Amino acid sequence: MATRIDGKAFAAQLREKVAESVNRLKEAHGLVPGLAVVLVGEDPASQVYVRNKGKQTLEVGMNSYEHKLADTTGQAELLELINQLNHDAKVHGILVQLPLPNQIDSHAVINAIDPNKDVDGFHLVNVGRLATGAPGLVPCTPLGCMMLLKDQIGDLSGKSAVVVGRSNIVGKPMGALLLAENCTVTTAHSRTADLPGVCRDADILVAAVGRAEMIPGDWVKPGAVVIDVGINRVAGDAGKTRLVGDVDYPSAQAVAGAITPVPGGVGPMTIACLLRNTVQAACAANAIAFDLD
Ligand code: GUN
Repeated sequence: MATRIDGKAFAAQLREKVAESVNRLKEAHGLVPGLAVVLVGEDPASQVYVRNKGKQTLEVGMNSYEHKLADTTGQAELLELINQLNHDAKVHGILVQLPLPNQIDSHAVINAIDPNKDVDGFHLVNVGRLATGAPGLVPCTPLGCMMLLKDQIGDLSGKSAVVVGRSNIVGKPMGALLLAENCTVTTAHSRTADLPGVCRDADILVAAVGRAEMIPGDWVKPGAVVIDVGINRVAGDAGKTRLVGDVDYPSAQAVAGAITPVPGGVGPMTIACLLRNTVQAACAANAIAFDLD
């Protein structure tokens, strides 16, 4: 039976380290890192995320600036806000919650953010830095996955890693991070021939497809480390709903060496890494050594 990787506990520890780092920045430099979060519209899931981000930002002692705009907001107005935040010295990190309403081009907005404040790591400059091994801001969910993997395995060199899913937010940066740790990386997706066979070769299997319980235990190599990024709401008992991952946990945990549960696995790591990235950006902006690596 697999070790259950406790992302909730790991994220709590990381937030504690972030809080200590924020304290040191205040005491030694009078610097309070600040994170601006921009929400356009009223998508209920996005509202929950933004509220949690704001709350956790304050809990670690940083400043939180929330900007809530109507879902009819035009692109020019949003770009003007980004421009203001880019020039605001109190703001070290800027996050624009996705998805954006249809009238707004997400790429244009993301690439308008100062790359050194792009704590999501979505700007083309940060994508390029990650792809070429230059220092930069790394997307939060893949960064959280890497922390859990390194904690579990130690040295990842030479491991066969399969990432199922090729999104810009998770799959592609995850592949780049695994490659940087000397894994042999396969990025699989909906058109992959023999997906079960590809998955069965993986020492490290990362599932980021957004399809409930798509990966069964018999796709998992015995002893593999399984990281489940999926968060899918499905019908549960008595008319209630419940959250499940992209991996069928009951069958996979019988085969894997270690596995993240849903909820309580990768999910809590994302905001913890966002806070970490904000401290990184605040340190870089003030030419202070970053002490959280
Ligand atoms: N929407 C879903 N995930 C994310 C994320 O990681 N960052 C942003 N900005 N929006 C999201």
